[in-house]
Amino acid sequence: MGRFDDQTVLVTGGTGGQGSSHVRAFHAEGANVLIADIDAERGVELADELGGRARFTHLDVTDESSWSAAVLAAERAFGALNVLVNNAGVQNPPAPIEQTDRATWSRILDINLTGTFLGIKAAVPALRRATGGAIVNIASTMSLGGTAHYAPYVASKWAVRGLTRTAALELGRDRIRVNTIHPGVIATPFIHEPAAGATAAIADFFSPEPFAIPRLGVPADVTGLLLFLTSSEASFITGSEYVIDGGLLLGPALRTEAA
Ligand SMILES: NC(=O)c1ccc[n+]([C@@H]2O[C@H](COP(=O)([O-])OP(=O)(O)OC[C@H]3O[C@@H](n4cnc5c(N)ncnc54)[C@H](O)[C@@H]3O)[C@@H](O)[C@H]2O)c1
Repeated sequence: MGRFDDQTVLVTGGTGGQGSSHVRAFHAEGANVLIADIDAERGVELADELGGRARFTHLDVTDESSWSAAVLAAERAFGALNVLVNNAGVQNPPAPIEQTDRATWSRILDINLTGTFLGIKAAVPALRRATGGAIVNIASTMSLGGTAHYAPYVASKWAVRGLTRTAALELGRDRIRVNTIHPGVIATPFIHEPAAGATAAIADFFSPEPFAIPRLGVPADVTGLLLFLTSSEASFITGSEYVIDGGLLLGPALRTEAA
């Protein structure tokens, strides 16, 4: 028996490094999964690999009609929607604010913030029809401070925190819980491949070596927390934020000669 038997879960960015890990884990725990992404090739491949309880649905999170279609697809295929994971996200090409153009700013805010807003808006009626459920929004440790040269990304992820708290207040009485996860640096294409318009990848200049747990995070680290937060074990948790960063935000784990 799986922890998510008879539940239907929609994961945006479901073909990506973290998204595909989440999809596989929910599926292994008995869930029906909707792999929602703009990457149809990888989405269809993953759905085919997983088989009967998995479907790919083409979803651009910035497009409201695309959201309605995705939620409808979940209900048509599996009868209900119980869990939404707003995981799709992109980073800006690194640049100081004065060299960041308006189009880049708008694109990052559109995908990371407006995409999350549209997702909540589209999913809530279906979650109500299912008599409750859970939403998890993926933000970032970058939404807990500033990061030079990442203004659009940082601002978008800070705003996701406010959206999460507000949604939690609006939806608690409908038995819909809304929480945020803040991943640290996780080994996915997001850090190993340059952002659109950039030449260097985050992994080219970031090393986990000085920090408490001196390794990059892996998608499974985040997946474990996500499954807990969307499960019945977390039924009293809403509007909360969970950092999963191996101690990155603690600062460097300095060593003395004696240590
Ligand atoms: N990897 C990290 O170090 C890290 C750290 C903190 C937060 N995050 C966040 O984690 C989430 C997942 O990132 P990841 O590491 O798996 O990166 P990834 O690049 O592997 O995956 C991102 C996915 O989002 C999809 N996507 C992009 N634009 C989309 C759109 N308009 N509509 C639908 N899907 C779209 C991509 O096709 C891709 O599958 C993102 O929100 C990211 O901001 C990542």
